[in-house]
This record gives sequence, structure tokens and C-alpha cells, in this order.
Amino acid sequence: MSLKPHFFGLLAGLILLGLGPAAFSQEYPARTITLIEPFAAGGPTDMVARIVGDHMSKTLGRQIVIENVVGAGGTTATTRAMRAPPDGYTIEMGHMGTHAAAVALYPNLAYNPVTDFEPIGLSAGTPILILARRDFPARNLREFVAFAKANADKLNMAHAGVGSVSFTTCLLLNSILNVTPAPVPYNGTGPAMNALLAGQVDYMCDQIANVVSQVTDGTIKAYAVATAARNPVLPDVPTTREAGLPEFEVSAWNALFAPKETPKPILDRLTDALDKALSDNATRKRLLELGSDSPDRPRRGQQALDTLLKSELQRWTPVIRAAVPVK
Ligand code: MLT
Repeated sequence: MSLKPHFFGLLAGLILLGLGPAAFSQEYPARTITLIEPFAAGGPTDMVARIVGDHMSKTLGRQIVIENVVGAGGTTATTRAMRAPPDGYTIEMGHMGTHAAAVALYPNLAYNPVTDFEPIGLSAGTPILILARRDFPARNLREFVAFAKANADKLNMAHAGVGSVSFTTCLLLNSILNVTPAPVPYNGTGPAMNALLAGQVDYMCDQIANVVSQVTDGTIKAYAVATAARNPVLPDVPTTREAGLPEFEVSAWNALFAPKETPKPILDRLTDALDKALSDNATRKRLLELGSDSPDRPRRGQQALDTLLKSELQRWTPVIRAAVPVK
């Protein structure tokens, strides 16, 4: 059941008392804020949410509690965030999957990322890597491609649910290679990474924040990073272009969203707190150490995220429709 009618009832009561949305917003935040995170704890979205949430809570003077709501590739959490009262006390760390790719992957998706949410701001850009278990036979990307094509019916691929970044980016990779591995879903790439480390799955596409120490320690194989340039935290990992697969260039992002109709003064407080987090040297350093791309000023804020969201929807919808023809 949606809680929004209760919220509007409360707001109507406040207006009758002469306390309009402005007065309501001025007190904000008066209590703990819940930040919904759509995947398992310890994964890349969770890490970014905790890093920026830490600093935002200092600016706002209230605790930000992370609530991991897993399932359906992040769409369960996003539906819940969409239905939360638009009062600034429930926000979501969404990403390229939940707020762009899911639209084409789920014909009956319960939410519209553009009309059901208010953008707060981009939190991090997250390069994607092609990874395999440590003892996977291929030594480099060319060998991986050849092996995958020759053994297509025997391979499996870990992902974090239909709609997740790992699912969507490997969907693109698999369609380029023309292979259909057995998909093995997890509630996030945190648990998917554990399966890869244990050798229970063959390969996956994952965000850099989840993989730096494993690649550095050699406990998994990283064949390539799918960005135009190498990443400073993994300088030995070639780009897909260098490694012979220039068609696979893709990256993802994390961003904060509030339910539609959250009052503008509250949104502005949240956007300002996010901006301060991204300008903070220690926070920025933590994101950069994970290989994430910390947004510079022109990419921050509500308008920039709105523009990114619309362009990502345009980018992913045809890619997904081509990879998964709608019947
Ligand atoms: C996670 O935090 O587990 C990931 O963002 C999942 C994904 O989208 O692949």
C-alpha cells in the first residue's frame, strides 16, 4: 500500500495550521534519513552509498541509515523508494541498472525513473571490468573471447539480477560475442564476487569498486576495463580497446533519487549535502581508491542527473531490445 496519501494528509493538516511546505522543509531534517540501497551489503553500490552517506550525515546533522532491500535486480528496492512518502526521509542510491536499463528489461516495471523520482545528484561513475575465476583457462581477453565462443554451452556467468549493472553490461558483452552462458543470479555482486573467488562461476562483468583488491591480489582474473583509458588503481589491466574488443566500451554510475514531489527545499538540502561530500578530500580519496570516478562540478546536481538519466534511457533501451528481442 502506498504511504503517499498519509503524507499528503499530514501536509494538508500543516497547511490548515498555517504551516505550509516551506515551514515543513525548514525543519528538515528532524530525524534519521533512510537511504535505500538495492543490493547486498558489501557490494559496489553499498560501498558508494556508505562513503557519500557518511559525509552527508555530517552536513545534515542527522544519521543516514543504509537499508539494503534486495531482489529483482534492484527493482524491488526502487519500487519501494518510489512509494515512500516524499518527505526527504527516504531516498535511494539508484544506478544505471535500476533507473535506466530496467525500463527495457521489465515491460511491466512498476515505476518510471523520470516521472516517479526527483533527481538529487550523481554520486559516482563506475567503470566496468570483464572478470573470470582465477583458474579460468584464458590468459587474456583474446583468449577469453575464443574460449567463450568455443565453449558457449558450458559457461556460466554471475550477475546481480535482471536489471542490475552486472546483468546489463554482460548482456551487451554476450550479444557482441554471440554467446548465451547459463546465468547465475545473486542479490548483489558482493555475493557474486564470493562465488567467483570460490571458483563456483566462470565470469562476470562488475563495477570496479567491487574488484580492486581481488584483481591486485590475483585471486580473480581481470581481462579488461571497458573504458577509453586505463584506471589508475589497476594500471596493469588493459582497456577493451587495447585488448582487442573495442565494441565493448561501457561504464555505469550511481546516483541519489528521492520520491516524486519531495519539496524542492528538501531536495536542495540533499543535493547540497551530496555536493559537499563530493568536494570533501577524504570522501573523494575513498571513491578514487575504489577506482570510481568522482563527478566534477558540471556533472553534479539535479539538472545534470536529469539530463544523464534521459540520455541513459535513450542509450540503453535500443541496446537491450537488440540483445533481448521483445516478443
Ligand atoms: C551491487 O551493488 O551489488 C551492484 O551494483 C549490483 C549490480 O548492479 O551489478
